Amino acid sequence: MVSYNLTPSTFDGGFKINNLPNFLTDVAGNFMTHHQYFTLSLYTLVTLVFTISIFTIFNPRQTVPKERDHSIPIPMDNIPHTPIEPLKDEYHPSKYRHLYHHLQNPESHPAARNYAWKHLHQLFDITLSKALAFSSPTILSIPKYSRISLMDFLSTAERNTLAQWTSYLSRRSSGGKPEMILNRSHASHFLRLAAPAKYVDGVWLSGLHRSNTPLHLRQITRTAWQILSEELGDGDLARNHVYIYSQLLKSLNTNNKNTTNLGAGDSLLFIDESQNPGKDINSWIAAISQLSLGMFPQELLPEILGFNLAYEAVTLETLVCAHELREVRLDPTYFNLHVTIDNADSGHTAMALHAVIELMKTCKSIEEEDNTWRRVQAGYTLAQGLSVNPRPLTQVELDVLEIFSNKCGAATSAHLRCKAHIGGAKGMKLGEWMDPEKWEERKYTFLEVLGSSSWVVPGRPEESKLIQEISWKGRMFGAFTVNETTVLKNWISEMSTVSAIEQFERDIEQAKGSYIRFIGSRPPVLNPQDIDPVHHTTIETDSEDLILPEIPEIPSELPINIVPKNFDPCRLLLAASTPLQHYLSSSTKSATRRGMIVLKTLRVLNGLADVGNLIAGMDEVTNPSGLGVIELAQRLHSNQAQVQPMQLELDTNWNWLNSTSLSPESNFWFLIGVQYALVFLMHSPEAFGVMDDDISTKMQEISIRVKEELEALGFRVNEESKRGFWMTINTVIREAA
Ligand SMILES: [Fe+2]
Repeated sequence: MVSYNLTPSTFDGGFKINNLPNFLTDVAGNFMTHHQYFTLSLYTLVTLVFTISIFTIFNPRQTVPKERDHSIPIPMDNIPHTPIEPLKDEYHPSKYRHLYHHLQNPESHPAARNYAWKHLHQLFDITLSKALAFSSPTILSIPKYSRISLMDFLSTAERNTLAQWTSYLSRRSSGGKPEMILNRSHASHFLRLAAPAKYVDGVWLSGLHRSNTPLHLRQITRTAWQILSEELGDGDLARNHVYIYSQLLKSLNTNNKNTTNLGAGDSLLFIDESQNPGKDINSWIAAISQLSLGMFPQELLPEILGFNLAYEAVTLETLVCAHELREVRLDPTYFNLHVTIDNADSGHTAMALHAVIELMKTCKSIEEEDNTWRRVQAGYTLAQGLSVNPRPLTQVELDVLEIFSNKCGAATSAHLRCKAHIGGAKGMKLGEWMDPEKWEERKYTFLEVLGSSSWVVPGRPEESKLIQEISWKGRMFGAFTVNETTVLKNWISEMSTVSAIEQFERDIEQAKGSYIRFIGSRPPVLNPQDIDPVHHTTIETDSEDLILPEIPEIPSELPINIVPKNFDPCRLLLAASTPLQHYLSSSTKSATRRGMIVLKTLRVLNGLADVGNLIAGMDEVTNPSGLGVIELAQRLHSNQAQVQPMQLELDTNWNWLNSTSLSPESNFWFLIGVQYALVFLMHSPEAFGVMDDDISTKMQEISIRVKEELEALGFRVNEESKRGFWMTINTVIREAA
């Protein structure tokens, strides 16, 4: 096998920009002066690197683009492409936890997209079916869209929330008990159960503003994307909502089953019932709807904006949670943020409303307006119909807890030798659960775990081992009084004989078709993915004795005349928006320092200014701070007096970029190299024939800002980043060849 004579120092200071009349001779001359060992022309070198990259990075079978078919709509029930991986059994208690995990990790579970599509339609069915049966006014009470009607509806909803809040404060000031968070130990329990949805905050907006977003919708999606950016902290981890929530959970007493080893939102630990117990499926279902919406930005834009409009409104629950967390001396920042940042004047409520109003303006006929409005309503109804909070405890549950609380001291010694575990194999012995020192912090989880255990047959107290054991001839006979036994029996009787999941599945069956009937005869169709995601693999070769060349360093300069004269700068700008555009589809992975750098990079590429320690809110809507790369490309395109509208698809030379960008986590360092190369080239707009000074300046500004952000990652020594860099340079050269 040939061993190539390339060294990392090959490019260091080896080029001079703008002062070389002939590309090849100048490069050769320059190198012959300073690097006598360099024997290849630049063109040979980059072609070689390209060949190596193709050979080492991609499995050719994966890079063959699929033939596109835009002609046949795909019925919603006939989901194409990837075969569906088996999830859990139909009514398995963990079914939705597993779906949540797959959606949090779509790179490892590509079929999750299909499940998401199907499940989302079921959720639209259920929530619409229930809302249509309401007697009180809902957004469905506005049969035809008008801006005034919508604003009136939202104002009324806001006034109602305020009235409920005032009434709550009045109840509390006259001695009423807390209504959501009963005490500090309950807070721990409550916050843990609510975590699935809190860990995906904002994810429904994650796909809206991408390189293939139609140009006429980009002002709208930019506003929505800015909301996402603010949810994610605008690049400051301390302000990232998911991070703030995770810190809140960490701040709780970690020496108990409520928060121990809860894991990150995308971890297997997080869905493990022995570590994170709970029968309540509300928060899991709500989170699944949010993750799923984020996967279909093109197919479900009206639904997403409708969902966002409802979700960004300040709710009574948020106000109460903030108030009651403060009462138990826990940090209410997460909930406070959702009161302040979501305000209807300059915050997310106002931005969400603006996005919907602007979307409705794009409708070109009454029929289109009616259809779009119904889809906005469906999205709004979805958000309103899915509770993100755990259900409150009933009075009987509180009574049961009180009985066990009174007995826990005596029970500990009585159960020292008892081997029975409550909470499955990984649960705890009864004596451990009843440890008086830990009882207060564990009791809510105990109730949850006991109710789900083999000691209880829901709805059937007489058949329950718990009741049998405390009755005559049982091992705990005499431990509970008649009244206490009655309370325990009532508790079991109140439990539904149908599990929450089974009931949910029945609701799905009953509501089937509600969404399609409501929005009309033209349901959205799932767009087939043109290109499959590619997971970057290092080396794939059948040859065992292949000696690969060392990949050259990423240079600090390149001669601008490596760019072919006929290269269209619009293509460069379009490509520059692509590498990291799918990264934010995981809220959990975004809530990291790396995620913040990606977010800041995307903010620059989307034309958003650095806001420091503040929030732009509606300022960006009324006075946008800058143009993004796609908008710059659009300007260049119109400067060229092109008749055809600008194409938002890169040509097939760039298929590798589209494919790898779909798996941003596994291809991260490669994509960073790609992103760097693209902004590197943007710093020399003249090389691409950009004559407009204003656009040139903006391209250079974006280039400088993005390079600064990326440098913080320290990617230059990363081999994958080097590959990404040279792959990009080669593609630019080849595209025009
Ligand atoms: Fe949030």
